[in-house]
Amino acid sequence: MAGFDMNKNISTNTPSFGDDGIVRANISMSEDNIDGGLRPQLLNDFQGQQQIKENLSVFIEAARSRNESLDHLFLIGPPGLGKTTLAQITARELGVDFKVTSAPALDKPKDLAGILSTITERTVFFIDEIHRLKPAIEEMLYIAMEDYELDWIIGQGAAARTVRIPLPHFTLVGATTKAGMVSSPLISRFGIVQRFNFYNKKELSDIIKRSASILDISIDDDAALLMADCSRGTPRVANRILRRMRDFAQVLGDGNITIKVVTAGLKKLEIDQLGLEHYDREILLSIIQNFSGGPVGAETLAISIGESVDTLEDYYEPYLIQCGFIQRTSRGRIATEKAYQHLGINFQQTNTLKNGQTNENQRLLF
Ligand SMILES: Nc1ncnc2c1ncn2[C@@H]1O[C@H](COP(=O)(O)OP(=O)(O)O)[C@@H](O)[C@H]1O
Ligand SMILES: [Mg+2]
Repeated sequence: MAGFDMNKNISTNTPSFGDDGIVRANISMSEDNIDGGLRPQLLNDFQGQQQIKENLSVFIEAARSRNESLDHLFLIGPPGLGKTTLAQITARELGVDFKVTSAPALDKPKDLAGILSTITERTVFFIDEIHRLKPAIEEMLYIAMEDYELDWIIGQGAAARTVRIPLPHFTLVGATTKAGMVSSPLISRFGIVQRFNFYNKKELSDIIKRSASILDISIDDDAALLMADCSRGTPRVANRILRRMRDFAQVLGDGNITIKVVTAGLKKLEIDQLGLEHYDREILLSIIQNFSGGPVGAETLAISIGESVDTLEDYYEPYLIQCGFIQRTSRGRIATEKAYQHLGINFQQTNTLKNGQTNENQRLLF
């Protein structure tokens, strides 16, 4: 994070709850910022995730009526499903301050101490990508979460001593796309753990229609449903497709988003009827053609398509697994028969050929 200025990246007091001051860990978040108005502000505007909403509204209500801080909250789920949004909503519903940072932005313990020293009673403190915390910072966070104290070393060498500074009772909201990479001591310190699911078609079409009305775009019901189908179960993708369709409707049509505009637009963007994009198909094709259907390790697969392992694992794979196109096994990724069908490749033929080749190779070896 070159040129990172911590003071710029934490919001001190955010009555407007704008996106200003948020550490942006990935490029796609910048798109959210362009249309910051699309981010739901209250639990009622937040579509889907019924279970999470029901639980959270009870916990928020209880904490509010007792005038206590909410228990620490851990949010797990693929990118773009609403983790950051829900963290902001939690602070807003509680009527408390909201501070935000991202684990990669916390380089030294003093970075975390700097933020903790500015929080007030019941503040919601959001740490994004919490699986990327450095061990020394994680240690400091344990004490802050559990004892509401900050261990601080004063002086150097033999004269160094540790002082414990008391902290206000705050709520830590941690978000991650990779729950498996978070240490169990850290997870165990969260009182509330919630997992996000992909959104269904109805929820996504509601999100698209809500966004369209905020952006003052006219959209047909069937067009919204088709876009919902192609949104990978993800609100961020749904909003992105909506913005692109608005462009197509404006330039190629009369400004209204109709099924005709969406059908043509999706084709131009190379998005198929399941929402698979160019790279999704590249991933499946690579497993099938370069690695005989798998198993292939994530790193090898990422190199073969020219993407980072993080992008492969965080963005592409969860949806491909959800679609039933990829299986994750201990030996690597496997393309399923369904993936062959989707790409129009004959599974039987390819695999007979594969087995034939294996037998041939074995014969050569013996
Ligand atoms: N439940 C939801 N209802 C409506 N819009 C949502 C919902 N969840 C997410 N969004 C939209 O999707 C965008 C991405 O959400 P975000 O909270 O940044 O995802 P994450 O932090 O999980 O990557 C937000 O800008 C918001 O507009
Ligand atoms: Mg986020």
